Formats: sequence, C-alpha cells, structure tokens
Amino acid sequence: MNSHNHILRRAVLAATATLALGINAVAAPAAKPLTDWPHITSAVKQDKAMEARIKQIVAGMTLAQKIGQMTQPEIKFSTPEDIRKYYIGSVLNGGGSWPQGNKHASAADWVKLADAYYDASMSTDMKVQVPVIWGIDAMHGNSNMYGATLFPHNIGLGAAHDAKLIGEMAKSVAKAVRATGIDWVFAPTLAVVRDDRWGRTYESFSEDAAIVKEYSGVYVKGLQGDLKSDNTVVATAKHFVGDGGTAEGKDRGVNQSTMSEMINIHAQGYYPALEAGVQTVMASFNSWNDVKGGKDHGKMHGSKELLTVALKEKMGFDGLVVSDWNAITEVPGCAEDSCAAAINAGVDMVMVPEKWKPFIANTIAQVEKGEIPMSRIDDAVTRILRVKLRAGLFDGKKPSQNIYAGKQEVLQDRALARQAVRESLVLLKNNGGVLPLARGKKILVVGKSADNMANQSGGWSLTWQGTDNKNSDYPVSDTILAGIQDAAGKDNVTYSENAAGVDVSKFDAVIAVIGETPYAEGDGDIGPAGTLRLSGRHPEDLAVLQAVSGKGKPVVTVAITGRPLYTNDLLNLSDSFVAAWLPGTEGKGVSDVLFRKADGKINADFRGKLSFSWPKSACQSPLNVGDANYDPLFKYGYGLNYSSKTTVAALDTSYPEGGCGKSLAVPIYNPTDRSTYALYVTSGDKRVALGADLNAVHNLPTVKVETAQINTQQDAKRLTWTGPAKLEAQSSKAIKVPAYALADGALQFDAIVSAAPQGKVSIGMETVALDASTVFQKLAGKGKQTVKIPLACFGAKGLPLAALSTPFSVAADAPFAATFANIQVVGGAAKDKDALACGDFK
Ligand code: BGC
Ligand code: BGC
Repeated sequence: MNSHNHILRRAVLAATATLALGINAVAAPAAKPLTDWPHITSAVKQDKAMEARIKQIVAGMTLAQKIGQMTQPEIKFSTPEDIRKYYIGSVLNGGGSWPQGNKHASAADWVKLADAYYDASMSTDMKVQVPVIWGIDAMHGNSNMYGATLFPHNIGLGAAHDAKLIGEMAKSVAKAVRATGIDWVFAPTLAVVRDDRWGRTYESFSEDAAIVKEYSGVYVKGLQGDLKSDNTVVATAKHFVGDGGTAEGKDRGVNQSTMSEMINIHAQGYYPALEAGVQTVMASFNSWNDVKGGKDHGKMHGSKELLTVALKEKMGFDGLVVSDWNAITEVPGCAEDSCAAAINAGVDMVMVPEKWKPFIANTIAQVEKGEIPMSRIDDAVTRILRVKLRAGLFDGKKPSQNIYAGKQEVLQDRALARQAVRESLVLLKNNGGVLPLARGKKILVVGKSADNMANQSGGWSLTWQGTDNKNSDYPVSDTILAGIQDAAGKDNVTYSENAAGVDVSKFDAVIAVIGETPYAEGDGDIGPAGTLRLSGRHPEDLAVLQAVSGKGKPVVTVAITGRPLYTNDLLNLSDSFVAAWLPGTEGKGVSDVLFRKADGKINADFRGKLSFSWPKSACQSPLNVGDANYDPLFKYGYGLNYSSKTTVAALDTSYPEGGCGKSLAVPIYNPTDRSTYALYVTSGDKRVALGADLNAVHNLPTVKVETAQINTQQDAKRLTWTGPAKLEAQSSKAIKVPAYALADGALQFDAIVSAAPQGKVSIGMETVALDASTVFQKLAGKGKQTVKIPLACFGAKGLPLAALSTPFSVAADAPFAATFANIQVVGGAAKDKDALACGDFK
C-alpha cells in the first residue's frame, strides 16, 4: 500500500508529466493535490431557451411517461411496440447482442432496427414526442459489429502515448456508430487500474492517472464533437468512480482508497471529460470503503454523496447518470426490478436490461408512496431531455437520415487502427539486436495466437467475453500471421501452431505469437490465490517456446495480453520479446514494426512505452509506479527501440507452487474464477455435469438446478429438492491444497436457504459427511449467509486434507431449497467469530 504522502507526491508527478507531454492541464490539479471534488466548467453550456422548453415538456408528462423515460431495457427484451407503449427513454444492446440475434447483421440491418425504435418513440400518446436514444459498448471501434475495424484495447493505446491518435480514433468510432443508427457510446472507460489481476485491466489506459487524464478530454471531444453533426455521438465517462481500485483487483469489489487517493488518482480522468462536456456518466459496480478515513460509502449506485453531491453539485455535472447493467441489484435492499435507493442517490437512467416492466411498475408505486420524491424524478427527466436536445435528437431526423447510416465501409478505418497497433507495441527485450528482421528470410511462425482474430482482439469483440469467435467472423481483418506473410513473402513463412515435428534449423528465425485468451468482466479476474504467471494458465505457451528455443535460431516472441504478467520463463526462452497487448483487427501493424523495409532500412521503429509496470515475480500485485518499494522487472515508461543497447539477462523463474498465499482462499466453485472443480448433480441413477452454460436449467427427477445470483450476476446455483439428490464439486484427480489454506482453514460458502429442509441435509468433503440439518434449519429465511465449517471437523473424522478431489458436496433426502455460491477453502476462516463449531453438526 502506498503511504499517503506517496500518493500526494504521485499526484504532483502526474500533473507535471501531463505538462511535459504538452497537453493542456485542464481543471485537474496543477502542482497541488486536490482536497475536495473540484468545480468543473463544462464546454457545453446551458441554454435558456432550451431549459425553458425542457421545463414545459416535463410539466406536460404523466408519471408513467417520466418513469418510462428513465428506463433502459436491452434490445433482446424490448420490442419497438414496448418502446411506444411504455414511453421508454433509451435502449441498449449488451455485448454480443445483435438485431434478431444475428452476429453477422449488416450496418443496414442495425439502422433498420434503430429506425423502428425511433418511429415507435415518435408515435406515443405523449403531448410532446421524445425520441429514444440507443446506447452501445463501442469500446475499441464499433466493436460489437460484424465487419468493423477493431482498434487496440485501451491498454495498448496507453502505451502509445499519443493523445492526437485518441482523438482521431474517437472521431472514427463516432462515425462507425452512426453508420449503425446508434447515437450513444458507453466509452471512454476512465479506470486507473491499480491491481492488474482485475479482468478489465485492458480497458484502462494506465495505472498512472496522468495518461488517463491526458486522453479523457480528447476522447470525449472526438466522440461528441459539436453534438449536432452527423459524425457525433453522446459519450459516457465510466465507471464512476474507483472501478480500477478494488482490493485484489476483484470485479465489482471494494475500493479501499482514502479520499485523497480517490480524487487524485481514480477520479482524475473525469475532470477533463467533464470539462470537454461529456453528457453522460455511468455509475460503477464497485463500492468504496475509506478504511483509513473511517467512512464506508457503500455501493456507488446507492451513494448520494458521490452521484449527487460530488458529481452533480460540487463538480457541476448537468448531464445524466446511467446505472450499469443490473447494478441496482447490488444496492442493499434493492432487486433487479426495484431500487428507489439508486434513484434517490442520483441515478437518472436505469439500465434494467430484462426486468424493465416490473421495474416501471415498482418505481411508479414508489413515487406514489413518497419513497422517491417527484422533484427527483423531474430532475432525472430534465437531465435526460437535456442530453437528448443537446444531441440533436429532437431535430426530426430518423437514424437512417444520418449521412453515414447503413454504410458498411464507414465501419472501417484500417490505416488508423494499423498505426495505433504500431504505436502500441512495447519492446521489452531485444538481445543481440535480433529485431528488426530482414525481408525474404525463412520464417517459422508458431503459437496459438498467430492466426487467431479472437485472441488478438480480446473481450468486448463481437461477443461480450470475446469468446466464441472465429476468424471468419472478421471479414475485413488481418491476423498477425497474415501480416508476417505479407512482409516476409508468403512462400518464406511456415506456420505450425505447436511446432510439433518441425525442424527449426531449416529457418532463419522463429516468431512465436502467444498469450492470454479472450475474457472480460468477471471471467478475466485472477483470483486471490492465483499467480500472475502466464505459463501457469497457458502451459501451451511455455511448451511451444521450449520446442523452438535453444536450436541456434533467434526466437522473437509476441505476447498478446490484456495486462502485464509474470513471464520470466518465456522471456528467457526468447531473444526478443514484444508486448503487443490486444491489437484488434489490424495484424499488419505488428509486422510493420518487426520487419525491415525491402532495402534493409528500418520500416517503423518501436515507440510504445509501458503505461503499466511489468512484474518481476509471480505474486507482485499490486505494483504501481510511485510505490514505496517499487521494484518491477520493467518499470513504468520502459520500452526499447532500435537504437537501444539494453540487454536483458537470464531471469529467475521461480514461483510459489501453491499460488500467492497473500490472501487465503482456494476457490472451489465461483464461475468468475474459472474454478478448478466442476459441479455435478446426482439424482437417482442420473448424474449430470452442470457445465459452462449458465442459462441451462437442469430438471432431474428429484431436484431442479438453475443459475441464480447471490453476490454478482449468475454467480450461484439454486437447487430445489423434492427428494434425495446431491450436488458435488469434483475433479477427476486429487488437487493439492496449499498450506496457507489448510492453516486454520474452513470450508466456506455463501447460501440463501429459501425453504427449510424437511429431512436430512449433509455437507461433505471427499467421503466424510457432516449432518448439517440443524444448521440449514437455522439459516432458512435469513437471506444471504456465509457458512464456515472448520476443516478440523472433517479432519476429526479421519479425512486427509492435503489433496482433494471432492472438496464440497451437499445432499438432501427430502424437500429443501437453497442457493449456493463462492464455495472455497479459506485459510484462517476457522478462527473467525462467525465460524461454526464441530458440535453444530450432530
Ligand atoms: C451483457 C453485457 C453486460 C454483462 C453484465 C452480458 O450478458 O451482454 O453487455 O456487460 O452481461 O454482466
Ligand atoms: C459493464 C459496462 C457496460 C454495460 C453494458 C456492464 O456490465 O460494466 O461497462 O457498459 O455492462 O454492456
């Protein structure tokens, strides 16, 4: 943890760095760190006539019309007729959601649907028709669209240190979004990520607020322009605030910053964004517990102090606050379809993808009962109308009347994206000056990511997690292999994914393209017991480098990654090593830099510099520039070029086998942690694996199993027993339990018991079962409870705990209903005050 003074010093350094880069240091602090939320003057001013018009429209609206305006359903769950009937103010499409579920929908198909929603919103029985606004996650290009150019993810853009490029990219994205009939973009992400185990690290420009601050205003200006022309969209600064600062990098977790860290690190990107006139801000899933300051602010979505006092009053934001996907559920006392607390806290537009109908009914009732004051509703609707008026939505043009509408070619901006790729690459090692490679030589290309658009694009690409995509889903793109073939001459290039049976001596050089596979929110988190070791999660990468290294031919490794990782073993096996981040569709941007020109001259030099510190050891997280004992392998700002003489010596490749015992849990079942054990249910002679499909419902003779939520979306399984059945977490071979988890360890899980057991319920580890009937009787009807059973209770019955193949099972023999999540073995938990005693199991 940084000391307070250290943070302040960083803030000063950050401000200085911004000046040094020649960017206007806007409202953010110059030399002095902030002590409170600053007032920001927006470039978009209020207009008297417009404000009067808004007042008049709001005065003529019924309560149902107002609540409809505040509601944002998802396109899969709302038809144009719904928009008309319920006066819906906005729709969104989630990641991996397309018109008619067609992944290959054309720009024209999107526009057709946008027109249908627009026409519906213009044919209501309202006194004044209010056009609907459509929001989309165009995060690195219009990235949910078939045929669109994908730019590098933000982490690569941060390494490029090129604010001008960001502005150009944003302009290009605005047009690409207009081409699909959409007028609102949920970007830029302004997270300053401080623990790279977070699965959204790649959505962040930098661990240093200076870069985020340098880019945010330019990005917003690029998207919004004058808010009137055909090439402009409404932008969103997200996620407010502190998303990049959660403990252990946990998605939707707890940010434990002090006030000074919050305003001088995490909020830095918002000041230039607000100054540039960003019209919407998305609230963040995380909560904020200022431990040192003694103040627990709770979930952002329920925090009036943050959403209203800080953002709207102190900073003077007059646009709209949108909630995140179903995020109202996480506010205490709220549900997916009901949350007076979030609206009272300052959320204006509520993203309720699915359960929007009951949400509207519940919210109307809450206003009628006085739980939400009408003045709050009027303020929310005023803000929504203000944004729509400013964005020219009332100008009478259908989405299809925009000059870019339906033009497939507007989705592409290949040269600009290719430039961004070139600029984003960071050269970490180039021993012996192996790079740049000469053209015309025999090149062996290996590695799983050389010819894989899904891997090189990462999450938020056509689909939400970036998974389930094939090269053919990217009709206008080049893989990195295609780029190499183009530069080296197709006949000179041989590709073998795993190098099996290849004679390396026949080639002049090897290029290995390896790295992480796609992930996004939740799924991408590295759990507290995990390490930063890339080859731990991807042993195939180590294997392929071992197959080609030490054969007398230079090995160039290109690492595709959403974050810095512990790669010492892979670095040792490579002569040159390039961090290529998640480059997107333009693979030729990579070969542009790796290869010389035909005449032997350098074609394009490396210019990327690390915007995130690169770890030296496997458990080195958090690791940030300015830390008291800052000791990275490659420091913030590092990056070689073709004039560098730096040699990287052989590195220590040790790592703790049991994982990073700093925090003490071994996840058994938690879908966001890619658990080691899989879940199975047995009922009579039927046994089924619950599998990865979270939407599947398993109806077995004596039990029904569904995906449910305890803490976060789809994190739990609900079992409804009608007779004897058993749920087990199991692996085919016994897995070693690290010593830190065994020390005073407990089997721990979250449970909601919705129907008390009518018979016997037992909890088991391996073959030992404890009678938990009384325990579950007591939990019935109490909502979420965390159950901790000391491992010693199992040990006392003779169970050896060092290695486990069935670390958890729950069996009932009669009707019983309960939901389970977060099943884990947690070191130290047996000593917690709320741990059960062995005597509770009789
Ligand atoms: C949607 C995403 C959304 C996510 C939230 C997914 O089903 O497609 O857009 O961010 O849910 O958990
Ligand atoms: C993500 C947001 C995204 C939204 C809509 C959420 O789960 O956190 O970044 O804009 O879904 O897809």
